[in-house]
Amino acid sequence: MKTNSDYKGFIFDLDGVLVSTEHNHFLAWQKTANLLGIEFSEKENENLKGVSRVDSLKYILNLGNAILSDGEFNNLLDFKNESYLESIQHLTQQNCLKGVVETLTKAKVKGLKLAVGSSSKNAKRILKLIEIEDFFDTVVDGSMVEHLKPSPEVFLKAATNLGLSPSECLVFEDAASGIQAAKSGGFTAIGVGNENIKQLADKYYNDLTEFTF
Ligand code: G6P
Ligand code: MG
Repeated sequence: MKTNSDYKGFIFDLDGVLVSTEHNHFLAWQKTANLLGIEFSEKENENLKGVSRVDSLKYILNLGNAILSDGEFNNLLDFKNESYLESIQHLTQQNCLKGVVETLTKAKVKGLKLAVGSSSKNAKRILKLIEIEDFFDTVVDGSMVEHLKPSPEVFLKAATNLGLSPSECLVFEDAASGIQAAKSGGFTAIGVGNENIKQLADKYYNDLTEFTF
């Protein structure tokens, strides 16, 4: 059995692993759903963690049996994103989740390769806001792949960019779709900060302060 120190690269999901933006996504989706008269709870939002913007809106429309034209659909995508971006404009490094900066700093000192693998098309903007973009050798986001999580594509592309095979990388995830993506790509999946995924992940930590390597 490998230990955490046996891996050559770490690939991190962004939302919910490096930074606490999941509540912002939830509130923006709730506003969007309410525009259509659809109720949207935090429990329902659990199913949208790690899920792309387009698939998230499809999920919400399905909840309310709503059918929209392409134009209306795209307007709602823009509305959600604008309301999300407005809510995160004041993010700083203080909004990094517990243990993130320490883990990234230690990994760099140890010479590990570091990547972000995120479904979010806002990933680069957020990494800049929270001032951790310089830690990463590569950032693969939702605009760079054809298939998003639970497809492993985002993580496979990140590993390829790092010059590593999936078996040489640990993937850190807070969402069921992300754990599924990591495992189907042949990665070891570390669950962080979301007890709902404890059973799905290969290992689980409440936050990155518990992760030793
Ligand atoms: C992440 C989040 C999801 C979000 C998705 C797309 O995976 O966990 O909640 O829907 O990214 O984000 P974006 O910023 O492109 O709308
Ligand atoms: Mg996430």
